[in-house]
Amino acid sequence: DLSPIDKAKFVAAKRAVEYVESGMKLGLGTGSTAAWMVRCLAERIREEGLKVKGVPTSSRTAELARSLGVPVVSLDDAKWLDLTIDGADEIDSQLNLIKGGGAALLQEKIVATASDQMIVIADAAKEVAQLGAFPLPVEVIPFGWQTTKALIEETLVSLDVLNRDCTLRMNGDAPLVTDEANYIVDLHLKRIGNPRQLSLVLNQIPGVVENGLFIDICDIVVVGHGDGRVTVRD
Ligand code: A5P
Repeated sequence: DLSPIDKAKFVAAKRAVEYVESGMKLGLGTGSTAAWMVRCLAERIREEGLKVKGVPTSSRTAELARSLGVPVVSLDDAKWLDLTIDGADEIDSQLNLIKGGGAALLQEKIVATASDQMIVIADAAKEVAQLGAFPLPVEVIPFGWQTTKALIEETLVSLDVLNRDCTLRMNGDAPLVTDEANYIVDLHLKRIGNPRQLSLVLNQIPGVVENGLFIDICDIVVVGHGDGRVTVRD
């Protein structure tokens, strides 16, 4: 018996896993929705003898996949992927995304970019008219992070961004450390007028490794609803 939100995530994941074919190399996303996808994939491997290789986008997903018998390889072994299935924090009408609520945005973006196709799975609450209500995660190198944060703030001023509160993501009393040993600065922008420009400008700041805007990367969005309905956009 699933809650409506878990049901929505589950039905989206299950539908997306129907796109998987035997022999595929897959990017395995991170987060609670992507975890449903790994479970659905494991079920198809068990029941149909589907042969796939998965490249996880986080240590959490790697652990889950291994525990369920999904074969795991590194991106460097796989080299190129057929399909990545991942969740998102926000999805706009052009299928641009904010990701990184789970702090895995760097590996997620590398893996999705190395894939022929990216399918995003989400509950309907993730669909937005404009990106930015969800804080935009920016992964920064720990060295000089306060200087990098100040440069991010200056950049937001130069872009005439009104809401530009930036906070270091914490894990209890210490900075949260990503799988790649970096920090996350969350940008509370409320709305992002020009996501493509913002993404490019942020990534030019020394100390910024990557940001959570996924522009022109996602091909298909599979949205689940609490009543079990699924809608697909591409
Ligand atoms: C992980 O870093 C994120 O990009 C997740 O894909 C995103 O936060 C969605 O997570 P949920 O599926 O748990 O909402």
